[in-house]
Amino acid sequence: MPFLSSMPIQAQILVCVCANLLLIFSSAQENFLLKDAGFCLKMAMQMQEGLRSEDLDYSFKKLMVFGGAVDCGKMDSGMTAKWKDIPMELLLRILSLVDDRTVIMAAGVCSGWREAICLGLTRLSLTWCKNNMNNLVLALAPQFTRLQTLILRQDKPQLEDNAVEAIANFCHDLQELDLSKSFKLTDRSLYALAHGCPNLTKLNISGCSSFSDSALAYLTSFCKKLKSLNLCGCVRAATDKALQAIAYNCRELQTLNLGWCENVGDLGVTSLAYGCPDLRALDLCGCVLITDESVIALANGCPHLRSLGLYYCQNITDRAMYSLAQRRAKNKPGVWQSVKSRYEEDGLMNLNISQCTALTPPAVQALCDSFPALHTCPGRHSLIISGCLNLTSVHCACALQAHRAASTAAH
Ligand SMILES: *[C@@H]1O[C@H](CO)[C@@H](O)[C@H](O)[C@H]1NC(C)=O
Ligand SMILES: *[C@@H]1O[C@H](CO)[C@@H](O)[C@H](O)[C@H]1NC(C)=O
Ligand SMILES: *[C@@H]1O[C@H](CO)[C@@H](O)[C@H](O)[C@H]1NC(C)=O
Ligand SMILES: *[C@@H]1O[C@H](CO)[C@@H](O)[C@H](O)[C@H]1NC(C)=O
Ligand SMILES: *[C@@H]1O[C@H](CO)[C@@H](O)[C@H](O)[C@H]1NC(C)=O
Repeated sequence: MPFLSSMPIQAQILVCVCANLLLIFSSAQENFLLKDAGFCLKMAMQMQEGLRSEDLDYSFKKLMVFGGAVDCGKMDSGMTAKWKDIPMELLLRILSLVDDRTVIMAAGVCSGWREAICLGLTRLSLTWCKNNMNNLVLALAPQFTRLQTLILRQDKPQLEDNAVEAIANFCHDLQELDLSKSFKLTDRSLYALAHGCPNLTKLNISGCSSFSDSALAYLTSFCKKLKSLNLCGCVRAATDKALQAIAYNCRELQTLNLGWCENVGDLGVTSLAYGCPDLRALDLCGCVLITDESVIALANGCPHLRSLGLYYCQNITDRAMYSLAQRRAKNKPGVWQSVKSRYEEDGLMNLNISQCTALTPPAVQALCDSFPALHTCPGRHSLIISGCLNLTSVHCACALQAHRAASTAAH
C-alpha cells in the first residue's frame, strides 16, 4: 500500500492492524470480526481524507483508546463485538501472523491490548530496526517481561550496555538471546545477563569482540543451562581460561562456535571435550594453535559429536583423523544394542578440513570408510576438502561417482 507512508501514524497503525485482520478472517469463518475489520479500515481511510490532525487524534482516541469501542451493531446486523473484547488467544494468534513491527504498534493501540500482547508475547525479533534499536529495546524491555526469545542481530552496531541491562532487569524468562555483531557492548552486558537471565540456553554473541574472558567465565557460572553458544570472532573472550570455565559450568552444552578465536589452544579444547560430553557441533575454524591433542580428546570425550569444523587448522595431522576413525570402530554398536542407540552412535556427519594442508589421502579415506554419512556429493558436501590439493585421490561416497562420471565422459 504505497499511500501508507503519507498517512499520519495513527491511521497507518489502524490500516495495518485492520488489513491484517481482514486478511486473516477472510479465510476463516468469523464473520463478526470480519465486519469489525472492514469498518475499521473504512474509518482509517476516512481519517486520512481531509481530517485535521486534532480531529484525527480525537477520532483515534475515541476509536481505540477509550474502551476501544467500535460498535459494529450500529452498522448493520445487531452485533456488538468490540475491539477490546477480542479474546486474548485470538489476538495473539493474529499477532503471530503479522510482523514484529505491527505487533509493537498494536501494543500501543489500547491499554487492554497492551497488557495482552506484552504478557502473551514470548518471541520478538528486532532485526528490521536499522537505526534506533537501542531506544526501542529500552522502551520495550520493561513491557515485554515474558520474552523467551529475543533476536537483536545487527548489521551496523547499535546496541549499548544500557539496553542489555534493561533486558536483564526485566526479561528473566529469557532462554534465547542473539546479540551478534554488537561491537559496542562491553563486559557490563555479560555481568548483567549473568544476574538477570539464569535460564539462558542459547546465546549468540558472535562478533562481540570487546568481551573479556573473565566476564564470559563469570556468565557461565550463573547461566549453567547453556546448550548453544556462538563465540565466533570473540577473540578476547574465548581463551583457554574461559573454555575451562565453560567445561566446568555448562555440562549440557551441545553446540559451540569458536571460529577465528585464535587464542584457543589444546588446553581449552581438551577441557571442553571432557567437561561437555553431550557436545554435538564444534566449530574450530581458524583456531590456528590447536593440534592433534584437541581432536584426540574430542574423539575420546564426545561420542555424540556430529559436526566438526577444522578449517585452516594447519597443525592438524593424520593422527587426528585416525583417532576420529578409530573412535568410530570402538563405538560400533553390538548386536544387543537397540536401534535407537545405534542411530545415536551414527558418528560424524559434517567435517570441514578445508585448508588443513598437512593431511594425506589414506587418513582421510579411513574417515570416509568409518563414517558413511560423510560424503562429497555435488551441492551438499558434508566432507569439505576444498583447497586440499593433496586429497584429490580420496574417494568418499559421491567422489567415487563423480570420478567415474568424469572418466566415462573422457572416453
Ligand atoms: C528458570 O527455570 C526454572 C525451571 O524451568 C523455573 O522454575 C524458574 O522460575 C526460572 N527462573 C526464572 C528467573 O525465570
Ligand atoms: C548467530 O549469529 C550469526 C551472525 O549474525 C549467525 O550467522 C548465526 O546463524 C546465529 N545463530 C547461531 C545459532 O549461531
Ligand atoms: C568450511 O569452513 C569455513 C570456515 O568456517 C567456511 O568459510 C566454509 O564455508 C566451510 N565450507 C563449507 C563448504 O561449508
Ligand atoms: C603449528 O605449526 C607451525 C608451522 O608448522 C609451527 O611453527 C608451530 O609450532 C605449530 N604449533 C604447535 C602448537 O604445534
Ligand atoms: C601437499 O601438497 C603440497 C603441494 O602440492 C606439498 O608441498 C606438500 O608437501 C603436500 N603435503 C603432504 C603432507 O603431502
